Amino acid sequence: MQTELSRKLGVEHAVFGFTPFPAVAAAISRAGGFGVLGAVRYTAPDDLKRDLDWIEAHVGGRPYGLDVVMPAKKVAGVSEAEVEAMIPEGHRQFVRDTLATYGVPELAEGEASGWRITGWMEQVARTQLDVAFDYPIRLLANALGSPPADVVARAHDRNVLVAALAGSARHARKHQEAGIDIVVAQGYEAGGHTGEIASMVLTPEVVEAVDPLPVLAAGGIGSGQQVAAALTLGAQGVWLGSIWLTTTEADLHSPALTRKLLAAGSGDTIRSRALTGKPARQLRTEWTEAWDDPAGPGTLPMPLQGLLVAEAVSRIQKYEVESLLGTPVGQIVGRMTSERSVQAVFDDLTRGFEQAVDRINRIAGRSGPS
Ligand SMILES: Cc1cc2nc3c(=O)[nH]c(=O)nc-3n(C[C@H](O)[C@H](O)[C@H](O)COP(=O)(O)O)c2cc1C
Repeated sequence: MQTELSRKLGVEHAVFGFTPFPAVAAAISRAGGFGVLGAVRYTAPDDLKRDLDWIEAHVGGRPYGLDVVMPAKKVAGVSEAEVEAMIPEGHRQFVRDTLATYGVPELAEGEASGWRITGWMEQVARTQLDVAFDYPIRLLANALGSPPADVVARAHDRNVLVAALAGSARHARKHQEAGIDIVVAQGYEAGGHTGEIASMVLTPEVVEAVDPLPVLAAGGIGSGQQVAAALTLGAQGVWLGSIWLTTTEADLHSPALTRKLLAAGSGDTIRSRALTGKPARQLRTEWTEAWDDPAGPGTLPMPLQGLLVAEAVSRIQKYEVESLLGTPVGQIVGRMTSERSVQAVFDDLTRGFEQAVDRINRIAGRSGPS
Protein backbone atom coordinates (compact mmCIF):
# COMPACT_ATOMS: atom_id res chain seq x y z
CA MET A 1 0.00 0.00 0.00
CA GLN A 2 2.62 2.48 -1.18
CA THR A 3 2.06 5.82 -2.85
CA GLU A 4 4.20 8.83 -3.69
CA LEU A 5 3.19 10.37 -0.35
CA SER A 6 4.02 7.30 1.74
CA ARG A 7 7.41 7.08 0.04
CA LYS A 8 8.02 10.77 0.70
CA LEU A 9 7.30 10.23 4.39
CA GLY A 10 9.31 7.02 4.49
CA VAL A 11 6.48 4.75 5.62
CA GLU A 12 5.66 1.28 4.33
CA HIS A 13 1.89 1.74 4.08
CA ALA A 14 -0.08 4.83 3.03
CA VAL A 15 -2.26 4.35 6.11
CA PHE A 16 -2.49 7.34 8.46
CA GLY A 17 -4.02 6.74 11.86
CA PHE A 18 -5.55 9.48 13.98
CA THR A 19 -5.75 8.58 17.66
CA PRO A 20 -5.96 10.30 21.03
CA PHE A 21 -3.78 7.55 22.54
CA PRO A 22 0.06 7.72 22.45
CA ALA A 23 0.39 3.92 22.60
CA VAL A 24 -1.84 3.56 19.53
CA ALA A 25 0.01 6.30 17.62
CA ALA A 26 3.36 4.62 18.28
CA ALA A 27 1.97 1.17 17.36
CA ILE A 28 0.56 2.51 14.05
CA SER A 29 3.96 3.90 13.08
CA ARG A 30 5.74 0.72 14.21
CA ALA A 31 3.35 -1.34 12.07
CA GLY A 32 4.44 0.61 8.99
CA GLY A 33 1.71 3.25 8.95
CA PHE A 34 1.84 6.87 10.08
CA GLY A 35 0.54 7.53 13.62
CA VAL A 36 -0.96 10.93 14.38
CA LEU A 37 -1.58 11.88 18.01
CA GLY A 38 -4.70 13.99 18.68
CA ALA A 39 -3.68 16.84 20.96
CA VAL A 40 -7.04 18.40 21.74
CA ARG A 41 -7.30 16.90 25.22
CA TYR A 42 -3.89 18.22 26.33
CA THR A 43 -4.63 21.45 28.15
CA ALA A 44 -1.43 21.15 30.22
CA PRO A 45 1.76 21.42 28.11
CA ASP A 46 3.62 19.07 30.48
CA ASP A 47 1.12 16.26 29.82
CA LEU A 48 1.72 16.57 26.08
CA LYS A 49 5.47 16.65 26.66
CA ARG A 50 5.26 13.48 28.76
CA ASP A 51 3.29 11.65 26.05
CA LEU A 52 5.51 12.84 23.20
CA ASP A 53 8.52 11.63 25.22
CA TRP A 54 6.76 8.28 25.53
CA ILE A 55 6.12 8.11 21.78
CA GLU A 56 9.74 9.00 21.06
CA ALA A 57 10.84 6.12 23.30
CA HIS A 58 8.44 3.61 21.72
CA VAL A 59 8.09 4.53 18.05
CA GLY A 60 11.34 2.86 17.01
CA GLY A 61 12.54 5.88 15.05
CA ARG A 62 9.52 5.77 12.72
CA PRO A 63 7.82 9.01 11.63
CA TYR A 64 4.69 10.31 13.38
CA GLY A 65 2.61 13.48 13.59
CA LEU A 66 0.36 15.63 15.72
CA ASP A 67 -3.23 16.82 15.22
CA VAL A 68 -4.47 20.05 16.78
CA VAL A 69 -7.84 21.74 16.63
CA MET A 70 -7.79 25.36 15.58
CA PRO A 71 -11.33 26.31 14.57
CA ALA A 72 -11.48 28.68 11.61
CA LYS A 73 -13.88 30.90 13.59
CA LYS A 74 -12.05 31.77 16.80
CA VAL A 75 -13.08 33.01 20.18
CA ALA A 76 -10.25 35.51 20.10
CA GLY A 77 -8.94 37.13 23.26
CA VAL A 78 -11.65 35.65 25.47
CA SER A 79 -10.76 33.64 28.58
CA GLU A 80 -12.32 30.31 29.47
CA ALA A 81 -14.13 31.99 32.40
CA GLU A 82 -15.63 34.60 30.08
CA VAL A 83 -16.80 31.88 27.70
CA GLU A 84 -18.30 29.95 30.67
CA ALA A 85 -20.26 33.08 31.64
CA MET A 86 -21.99 33.04 28.24
CA ILE A 87 -23.75 29.74 29.01
CA PRO A 88 -27.46 30.31 29.77
CA GLU A 89 -28.71 29.04 33.13
CA GLY A 90 -31.53 27.11 31.41
CA HIS A 91 -28.96 24.94 29.64
CA ARG A 92 -27.07 24.29 32.90
CA GLN A 93 -30.34 23.26 34.51
CA PHE A 94 -31.08 20.89 31.62
CA VAL A 95 -27.73 19.16 32.20
CA ARG A 96 -28.39 18.88 35.96
CA ASP A 97 -31.91 17.53 35.37
CA THR A 98 -30.80 14.97 32.78
CA LEU A 99 -27.98 13.68 35.01
CA ALA A 100 -30.40 13.51 37.96
CA THR A 101 -32.94 11.56 35.89
CA TYR A 102 -30.30 8.89 35.24
CA GLY A 103 -28.90 9.04 38.79
CA VAL A 104 -25.38 9.98 37.61
CA PRO A 105 -23.23 10.55 40.74
CA GLU A 106 -21.17 13.72 41.27
CA LEU A 107 -17.38 13.73 40.86
CA ALA A 108 -15.47 13.61 44.15
CA GLU A 109 -14.61 16.92 45.84
CA GLY A 110 -11.74 18.60 43.97
CA GLU A 111 -11.74 15.96 41.21
CA ALA A 112 -11.22 17.74 37.92
CA SER A 113 -13.33 16.67 35.00
CA GLY A 114 -10.97 14.58 32.92
CA TRP A 115 -12.02 15.98 29.58
CA ARG A 116 -11.79 19.69 28.85
CA ILE A 117 -12.82 21.40 25.70
CA THR A 118 -10.32 24.24 26.00
CA GLY A 119 -8.09 22.52 23.45
CA TRP A 120 -10.56 23.88 20.92
CA MET A 121 -9.40 27.39 21.77
CA GLU A 122 -6.60 28.72 19.59
CA GLN A 123 -4.52 29.98 22.51
CA VAL A 124 -4.41 26.43 23.95
CA ALA A 125 -3.62 24.86 20.57
CA ARG A 126 -0.71 27.28 20.29
CA THR A 127 0.77 26.06 23.59
CA GLN A 128 0.50 22.50 22.20
CA LEU A 129 2.44 23.60 19.11
CA ASP A 130 5.16 25.22 21.25
CA VAL A 131 5.70 21.82 22.84
CA ALA A 132 5.33 19.73 19.68
CA PHE A 133 7.82 21.69 17.57
CA ASP A 134 10.57 20.58 19.97
CA TYR A 135 9.96 16.99 18.79
CA PRO A 136 10.79 15.52 15.38
CA ILE A 137 7.14 15.43 14.20
CA ARG A 138 6.83 15.04 10.42
CA LEU A 139 3.20 16.13 10.06
CA LEU A 140 0.93 18.68 11.68
CA ALA A 141 -2.78 18.22 11.01
CA ASN A 142 -5.58 20.61 11.83
CA ALA A 143 -9.27 19.88 12.16
CA LEU A 144 -11.97 22.49 11.55
CA GLY A 145 -10.23 24.79 9.10
CA SER A 146 -6.87 25.85 7.71
CA PRO A 147 -4.25 26.59 10.35
CA PRO A 148 -3.24 30.28 10.60
CA ALA A 149 -0.54 31.44 8.14
CA ASP A 150 2.12 31.83 10.86
CA VAL A 151 1.55 28.24 12.01
CA VAL A 152 1.90 26.93 8.43
CA ALA A 153 5.12 28.95 8.05
CA ARG A 154 6.48 27.70 11.38
CA ALA A 155 5.78 24.10 10.36
CA HIS A 156 7.38 24.53 6.95
CA ASP A 157 10.48 26.12 8.54
CA ARG A 158 10.88 22.86 10.46
CA ASN A 159 10.24 20.66 7.42
CA VAL A 160 6.92 19.55 8.91
CA LEU A 161 4.14 18.84 6.38
CA VAL A 162 0.78 20.46 7.13
CA ALA A 163 -2.51 18.63 6.63
CA ALA A 164 -6.05 19.87 7.13
CA LEU A 165 -9.39 18.08 7.20
CA ALA A 166 -12.03 19.05 4.65
CA GLY A 167 -15.64 17.96 4.26
CA SER A 168 -16.18 19.58 0.86
CA ALA A 169 -14.23 20.53 -2.27
CA ARG A 170 -14.75 24.21 -1.34
CA HIS A 171 -13.03 23.70 2.04
CA ALA A 172 -10.27 21.75 0.36
CA ARG A 173 -9.56 24.60 -2.08
CA LYS A 174 -9.38 27.05 0.85
CA HIS A 175 -6.75 24.82 2.45
CA GLN A 176 -4.81 24.79 -0.79
CA GLU A 177 -4.91 28.59 -0.92
CA ALA A 178 -3.66 28.66 2.70
CA GLY A 179 -0.55 26.75 1.62
CA ILE A 180 -1.21 23.40 3.26
CA ASP A 181 0.48 20.28 1.87
CA ILE A 182 -2.08 17.48 2.30
CA VAL A 183 -5.89 17.51 2.34
CA VAL A 184 -7.72 14.92 4.41
CA ALA A 185 -11.07 14.51 2.64
CA GLN A 186 -13.33 13.39 5.43
CA GLY A 187 -16.72 11.98 4.49
CA TYR A 188 -20.04 11.94 6.28
CA GLU A 189 -19.50 8.39 7.60
CA ALA A 190 -16.52 9.44 9.72
CA GLY A 191 -16.29 9.60 13.48
CA GLY A 192 -15.92 13.10 14.92
CA HIS A 193 -16.80 16.37 13.16
CA THR A 194 -18.12 15.67 9.70
CA GLY A 195 -19.71 17.41 6.76
CA GLU A 196 -22.64 16.07 4.78
CA ILE A 197 -20.94 14.47 1.78
CA ALA A 198 -20.21 10.75 1.71
CA SER A 199 -16.63 9.61 1.03
CA MET A 200 -17.54 7.90 -2.26
CA VAL A 201 -18.57 11.28 -3.66
CA LEU A 202 -16.19 13.49 -1.69
CA THR A 203 -12.84 11.78 -2.36
CA PRO A 204 -12.78 12.18 -6.17
CA GLU A 205 -14.26 15.69 -5.91
CA VAL A 206 -11.48 16.80 -3.57
CA VAL A 207 -8.78 14.99 -5.58
CA GLU A 208 -9.84 16.94 -8.69
CA ALA A 209 -10.31 20.21 -6.82
CA VAL A 210 -6.83 20.40 -5.30
CA ASP A 211 -4.78 18.52 -7.89
CA PRO A 212 -1.74 18.13 -7.63
CA LEU A 213 -1.94 18.26 -3.79
CA PRO A 214 -2.06 14.79 -2.22
CA VAL A 215 -5.39 13.79 -0.69
CA LEU A 216 -6.01 11.28 2.07
CA ALA A 217 -9.45 9.64 2.13
CA ALA A 218 -11.12 9.50 5.54
CA GLY A 219 -14.45 8.23 6.76
CA GLY A 220 -15.78 4.71 6.84
CA ILE A 221 -12.51 2.91 6.09
CA GLY A 222 -11.79 -0.25 8.05
CA SER A 223 -10.79 -2.90 5.53
CA GLY A 224 -8.12 -3.33 2.88
CA GLN A 225 -10.83 -3.46 0.22
CA GLN A 226 -11.91 0.02 1.32
CA VAL A 227 -8.27 1.20 1.22
CA ALA A 228 -8.06 -0.09 -2.37
CA ALA A 229 -11.29 1.73 -3.22
CA ALA A 230 -9.98 5.01 -1.79
CA LEU A 231 -6.69 4.73 -3.72
CA THR A 232 -8.68 3.90 -6.85
CA LEU A 233 -10.60 7.14 -6.38
CA GLY A 234 -7.32 9.04 -6.53
CA ALA A 235 -6.37 9.32 -2.86
CA GLN A 236 -2.66 9.10 -1.97
CA GLY A 237 -3.51 7.31 1.24
CA VAL A 238 -6.17 6.76 3.87
CA TRP A 239 -6.76 8.39 7.26
CA LEU A 240 -8.46 6.16 9.82
CA GLY A 241 -9.78 7.20 13.23
CA SER A 242 -12.52 4.94 14.56
CA ILE A 243 -10.95 1.55 13.93
CA TRP A 244 -8.23 2.11 16.58
CA LEU A 245 -10.70 2.70 19.41
CA THR A 246 -11.14 -1.02 20.02
CA THR A 247 -7.48 -1.99 19.63
CA THR A 248 -5.73 -3.53 22.61
CA GLU A 249 -3.37 -0.53 22.79
CA ALA A 250 -6.25 1.96 23.16
CA ASP A 251 -6.97 3.22 26.62
CA LEU A 252 -10.67 4.06 26.76
CA HIS A 253 -10.71 3.62 30.57
CA SER A 254 -14.14 2.06 30.27
CA PRO A 255 -14.84 -1.64 29.69
CA ALA A 256 -18.53 -0.74 29.29
CA LEU A 257 -17.72 1.66 26.44
CA THR A 258 -15.54 -0.91 24.72
CA ARG A 259 -18.40 -3.42 25.00
CA LYS A 260 -20.83 -0.89 23.51
CA LEU A 261 -18.47 -0.21 20.59
CA LEU A 262 -17.98 -3.92 19.88
CA ALA A 263 -21.74 -4.49 19.93
CA ALA A 264 -22.71 -1.43 17.85
CA GLY A 265 -23.81 -1.79 14.23
CA SER A 266 -23.14 0.65 11.40
CA GLY A 267 -26.55 2.26 12.02
CA ASP A 268 -25.88 2.99 15.69
CA THR A 269 -24.13 6.34 15.25
CA ILE A 270 -25.58 9.79 14.84
CA ARG A 271 -24.26 13.15 13.65
CA SER A 272 -25.12 15.36 16.60
CA ARG A 273 -24.09 18.73 18.05
CA ALA A 274 -24.40 17.35 21.61
CA LEU A 275 -20.66 17.03 22.26
CA THR A 276 -19.11 20.24 20.92
CA GLY A 277 -21.82 22.37 19.31
CA LYS A 278 -20.73 21.36 15.79
CA PRO A 279 -22.09 18.24 14.09
CA ALA A 280 -19.91 15.30 15.14
CA ARG A 281 -20.60 11.62 14.48
CA GLN A 282 -20.76 9.57 17.66
CA LEU A 283 -22.53 6.62 19.22
CA ARG A 284 -26.27 7.29 19.49
CA THR A 285 -27.15 7.27 23.18
CA GLU A 286 -29.93 8.52 25.42
CA TRP A 287 -27.64 11.54 26.04
CA THR A 288 -27.49 12.49 22.33
CA GLU A 289 -31.23 11.84 22.04
CA ALA A 290 -31.94 14.19 24.97
CA TRP A 291 -29.99 16.97 23.23
CA ASP A 292 -31.57 16.32 19.86
CA ASP A 293 -35.11 16.21 21.36
CA PRO A 294 -37.10 19.26 20.12
CA ALA A 295 -38.60 19.50 23.64
CA GLY A 296 -35.12 20.24 25.08
CA PRO A 297 -33.22 23.57 25.02
CA GLY A 298 -31.14 22.57 21.97
CA THR A 299 -27.36 22.73 21.79
CA LEU A 300 -25.16 25.83 22.09
CA PRO A 301 -22.52 26.88 19.53
CA MET A 302 -18.89 25.80 19.85
CA PRO A 303 -17.11 26.25 22.27
CA LEU A 304 -20.01 26.83 24.70
CA GLN A 305 -21.56 23.36 24.27
CA GLY A 306 -18.25 21.64 24.97
CA LEU A 307 -17.70 23.64 28.14
CA LEU A 308 -21.30 23.05 29.22
CA VAL A 309 -21.15 19.27 28.94
CA ALA A 310 -17.49 18.60 29.87
CA GLU A 311 -18.14 17.74 33.50
CA ALA A 312 -21.29 15.75 32.66
CA VAL A 313 -19.37 13.69 30.08
CA SER A 314 -16.66 12.97 32.68
CA ARG A 315 -19.28 11.84 35.19
CA ILE A 316 -21.00 9.60 32.66
CA GLN A 317 -17.64 8.07 31.71
CA LYS A 318 -16.35 7.68 35.25
CA TYR A 319 -19.49 5.94 36.50
CA GLU A 320 -20.03 4.11 33.18
CA VAL A 321 -23.69 5.06 32.99
CA GLU A 322 -24.37 2.67 30.16
CA SER A 323 -27.41 4.28 28.50
CA LEU A 324 -25.67 7.69 28.31
CA LEU A 325 -22.14 6.47 27.62
CA GLY A 326 -20.81 7.40 24.19
CA THR A 327 -17.81 8.51 22.15
CA PRO A 328 -17.14 9.96 18.74
CA VAL A 329 -17.06 7.03 16.32
CA GLY A 330 -17.96 6.51 12.68
CA GLN A 331 -20.23 4.12 10.83
CA ILE A 332 -17.32 1.68 10.50
CA VAL A 333 -18.06 0.78 14.13
CA GLY A 334 -20.17 -2.02 12.63
CA ARG A 335 -16.94 -3.79 11.58
CA MET A 336 -15.31 -3.36 14.97
CA THR A 337 -16.46 -6.62 16.48
CA SER A 338 -13.42 -7.83 18.44
CA GLU A 339 -10.49 -6.31 20.31
CA ARG A 340 -7.35 -6.64 18.19
CA SER A 341 -3.82 -5.28 18.30
CA VAL A 342 -2.87 -2.44 15.97
CA GLN A 343 -0.57 -4.90 14.17
CA ALA A 344 -3.52 -7.28 13.64
CA VAL A 345 -5.51 -4.39 12.10
CA PHE A 346 -2.60 -3.77 9.70
CA ASP A 347 -2.34 -7.46 8.82
CA ASP A 348 -6.05 -7.45 8.01
CA LEU A 349 -5.74 -4.24 5.94
CA THR A 350 -2.84 -5.58 3.87
CA ARG A 351 -4.58 -8.94 3.30
CA GLY A 352 -7.81 -7.25 2.21
CA PHE A 353 -5.91 -4.84 -0.03
CA GLU A 354 -4.16 -7.71 -1.81
CA GLN A 355 -7.47 -9.54 -2.28
CA ALA A 356 -9.03 -6.38 -3.77
CA VAL A 357 -6.14 -5.89 -6.18
CA ASP A 358 -6.32 -9.56 -7.28
CA ARG A 359 -10.05 -9.27 -7.81
CA ILE A 360 -9.72 -6.14 -9.93
CA ASN A 361 -6.92 -7.74 -11.92
CA ARG A 362 -9.16 -10.75 -12.60
CA ILE A 363 -12.06 -8.50 -13.60
CA ALA A 364 -9.75 -6.54 -15.89
CA GLY A 365 -8.55 -9.81 -17.44
CA ARG A 366 -5.00 -9.54 -16.06
CA SER A 367 -3.46 -12.60 -14.48
CA GLY A 368 -0.59 -13.16 -12.11
CA PRO A 369 0.06 -12.03 -8.57
CA SER A 370 -0.60 -8.39 -7.67
C1 LIG B 1 -12.72 9.37 18.98
C2 LIG B 1 -12.42 10.28 17.82
C3 LIG B 1 -11.91 11.54 18.08
C4 LIG B 1 -11.60 12.40 17.02
N1 LIG B 1 -11.03 13.61 17.30
C5 LIG B 1 -10.49 14.33 16.28
C6 LIG B 1 -9.67 15.46 16.56
O1 LIG B 1 -9.47 15.85 17.72
N2 LIG B 1 -9.10 16.10 15.52
C7 LIG B 1 -9.28 15.67 14.22
O2 LIG B 1 -8.68 16.24 13.30
N3 LIG B 1 -10.07 14.63 13.92
C8 LIG B 1 -10.65 13.94 14.93
N4 LIG B 1 -11.40 12.82 14.63
C9 LIG B 1 -11.63 12.45 13.22
C10 LIG B 1 -10.44 11.62 12.68
O3 LIG B 1 -9.32 12.44 12.48
C11 LIG B 1 -10.77 10.97 11.33
O4 LIG B 1 -10.92 11.96 10.34
C12 LIG B 1 -12.00 10.10 11.31
O5 LIG B 1 -12.05 9.28 12.44
C13 LIG B 1 -11.96 9.23 10.04
O6 LIG B 1 -13.13 8.50 9.86
P1 LIG B 1 -13.40 7.06 10.56
O7 LIG B 1 -13.79 7.42 11.97
O8 LIG B 1 -14.52 6.50 9.78
O9 LIG B 1 -12.13 6.28 10.48
C14 LIG B 1 -11.80 11.98 15.68
C15 LIG B 1 -12.36 10.71 15.44
C16 LIG B 1 -12.67 9.87 16.47
C17 LIG B 1 -13.24 8.52 16.17
